[in-house]
Amino acid sequence: MAVYVESRPGSEAQPLGGPPLRELATADGRRVGTAVRADALADDLAYRQIVAGQFSSVTPENEMKWSHLQPEQGRFAYGPADDIVAFALEHGQVVRGHTLVWHNQLPGWVPGLGARDLRAAMLEHVRRVAEHFKGRIAQWDVVNEAITDAGRLRRRPFAEKLGPGYVAEAFRTARRADPRAKLFINDYGIEGINRKSDRLYALVAELKRAGVPVDGVGFQMHVNLEGVPETFVANLRRFAALGLDLAVTEADVALRVPPSEEDLRAQGRVFADAVRGCRAVPECRSFTFWGFTDSRSWISETRPGFGAATLLDERLRPKPAYRAVQRALGP
Ligand code: XIL
Repeated sequence: MAVYVESRPGSEAQPLGGPPLRELATADGRRVGTAVRADALADDLAYRQIVAGQFSSVTPENEMKWSHLQPEQGRFAYGPADDIVAFALEHGQVVRGHTLVWHNQLPGWVPGLGARDLRAAMLEHVRRVAEHFKGRIAQWDVVNEAITDAGRLRRRPFAEKLGPGYVAEAFRTARRADPRAKLFINDYGIEGINRKSDRLYALVAELKRAGVPVDGVGFQMHVNLEGVPETFVANLRRFAALGLDLAVTEADVALRVPPSEEDLRAQGRVFADAVRGCRAVPECRSFTFWGFTDSRSWISETRPGFGAATLLDERLRPKPAYRAVQRALGP
């Protein structure tokens, strides 16, 4: 699909005012990204203009998940994911691939497989997908959400049937299939120092010791007005000391709807804290928002009573959060 910002009908995005986020991030030697949706890129000119103008990295919000790429065993469906990658390359953006191995959004045929078949299917999926996008993905979330909130290795479905070694197998397979992509492990609730991030730290330290090709850790940063944990920067530093790249991969700040003016200002402070925390650590070179408009945000879509979690309102107008991020990314 050839997507040119200038060539499609529909209403234009209004200027957001001030420097685009991607310019600010570039000046700082970093990438700023957003989750994107292939359908919105295809049919919404203003959406497309903002993605192109504001961001230097994109993450397919759903289009690279297992259920989307391999809905039936052996049948791969790359169309919408390829469209996003093509858009990114046309606009000088990098792509974060999301995600190869995750317990959610699995196709129906996967959870019922026995151990042998599940191992073969997982390795085949990782290999085929990473080969398909080879050379076009800057960072892959190879394994997503491997640790439970209680700080244990999540069992279902992978560890239960394949043993804890499935994580290393997935990374080794991804490395062979696309040697240039940086390989990440990604999770939520690991922004501060807590039992979950402690367990993840132990896991990646052990993987590194064993020579498993893990390059980075992704901190999702789905938060609310409780804010960014005070130990965020200290936590980033301990992971960086293992020789890892770091990225904030899915930032949003959920508010009760409708939000008050004070909540909207507080939201800006939380986003700014997250950006400044990343900037405080040299290894944190990529900061991605999980969508940029309240009209297309999973928080509004999936959490009753919550929403307004992104930088722009439903009509793509800047909220206090957008200005706060501009300032936090600025010189
Ligand atoms: C979410 C998407 O935003 C939704 O559209 C989808 O219905 C469910 O998944 N952690 C992740 C993301 O790693 O893939 C999730 O994305 C949000 C939580």
